[in-house]
Amino acid sequence: MRAPAKKKARRIAPPCISARLSAHIALQADADGSIVACFDDYSVGLGTFSPGVVDRMHQLRAGLALASFTAGRAVDKEIGLLVHRLAQRGLLEFGLGRADRDQVVIEPQVPDYWPQTPKLGNQDVIALSRFAYLRRRGNEMVLESPRAGALFRICDPKIATALALLSTPQKVAAFWRQPGFPGIELLALLVDCQILFRVDANGDGLRASEGDDDLVLWDFHDLLFHTRSTEGRQANPLGGLYPYAGLIPPPPAVRPRWPGKKIDLRKVSATSSEAPSPFTRLLHERHSTRDFDDTRPITLAELARFLDSAARIQAKWKDKADLGNGGPDVSYAARPYPSGGGAYELELYLAVGNCEGLARGFYHYDADQHALVPIGVKTPELEAQLAAAEFAMGAPAAPQILITIAARFGRVSWKYSSVAYSLILKDAGVLLQTLYMMATDMGLGGCAIGTNNIDLFAKMTGLEFHVEGPVGQFALGRGSKPGSADEPPPAQGSLD
Ligand SMILES: Cc1cc2nc3c(=O)[nH]c(=O)nc-3n(C[C@H](O)[C@H](O)[C@H](O)COP(=O)(O)O)c2cc1C
Repeated sequence: MRAPAKKKARRIAPPCISARLSAHIALQADADGSIVACFDDYSVGLGTFSPGVVDRMHQLRAGLALASFTAGRAVDKEIGLLVHRLAQRGLLEFGLGRADRDQVVIEPQVPDYWPQTPKLGNQDVIALSRFAYLRRRGNEMVLESPRAGALFRICDPKIATALALLSTPQKVAAFWRQPGFPGIELLALLVDCQILFRVDANGDGLRASEGDDDLVLWDFHDLLFHTRSTEGRQANPLGGLYPYAGLIPPPPAVRPRWPGKKIDLRKVSATSSEAPSPFTRLLHERHSTRDFDDTRPITLAELARFLDSAARIQAKWKDKADLGNGGPDVSYAARPYPSGGGAYELELYLAVGNCEGLARGFYHYDADQHALVPIGVKTPELEAQLAAAEFAMGAPAAPQILITIAARFGRVSWKYSSVAYSLILKDAGVLLQTLYMMATDMGLGGCAIGTNNIDLFAKMTGLEFHVEGPVGQFALGRGSKPGSADEPPPAQGSLD
């Protein structure tokens, strides 16, 4: 008897990554070949291209394989350029799948995201990041992480099941044999986004072996809160967009009264004939100033006095950490405002646009030496930061000085569990009021800014976003209308 012919294993083509326009984007081309992307009321110019590109650009609605841009023909390279420009502006998503069926859709969260597939060997051990989470969004399931440059829309529930197995570190070779193995391409994309990570030989995949010491100090909810409540590392709508205006009436400015019998304090206050104290007057004078007089900018001497009075270190000492059994020495440095646990984790960075006696540029305030230290940044980055502040205030021009309050997160989370990030935000609020009061006392103008771009700050300083980053901003300068509050304009990005 003849042995049955050995069945040939059928080779399945690997899934391919394709780029496609995000659903709300449309492309339009002019007769001269210039292409613009249109969405809502905006249009973004993408450059001028040859007729071949204009003919093919509509294929980006269904998707074009990334591999096709490297095909060598001039038109393919031009399409590649168009696609990169769309990606830089956050107007694309990427599909991973076979023959029109997506396994996942990748939605970039940072402007420079481009799918990368680092090589994974059979002996590599991989695990799910402790920052990764799967949740329902509308009718979809999304896999996200505050560390990731993109989120993954999971189109096949089997993938979610398979990924759940990676809560325990798995060797790639063994994981490959598991039912529902999602494919090495997806694993590589997830490693690139730090949703999965390689566990080194001695690692157990747990907190201490993922990332650096600064990452160890973060609780899951704190890192998520930081990245999802700031600009730069997420693509969600942000700012004063009134998302529920048509659904829910606006909550009132003044809380409805409790029903109990009231004790009327007006009667008691009315008997006091004392003139208001200087501090009370200062409190009542304080207001936000968004419009600055660029013909009479703040001077370096005024800035020095402002920082000296509001932010300079006043005393330094060391103390043992209260661990009971003799913890390490912890250093402290008191400043003119209170800080949770005396941590004083907040640093001031100044984007100087117009200050008499001080060159335009970016500086760190050394609160110990009472000195400004210049930090070399690219001019477009400095301008982007000042322009974002102008936009957030709905102001007619950029502020003379923009102070970014950045937190050294680990200084607080080294001690405090669960409440670290919330303490930092409270500290930022306290410092903002201190800056407001000092500006008022000096006859200067200032305005808190509620949105800040943590990715831009990371690029400007070279500091990783989880090490030290913005938690607040304050615009400072000489107001154009001394003593009077300017109208808070209804700017889209503003929190006024
Ligand atoms: C945390 C915080 C964030 C703010 N963000 C903005 C902002 O992004 N843009 C803006 O124009 N004003 C901003 N403001 C200023 C408020 O609009 C202002 O304090 C409020 O309207 C009250 O006006 P007043 O400060 O003149 O008393 C912010 C204030 C705070 C405390």
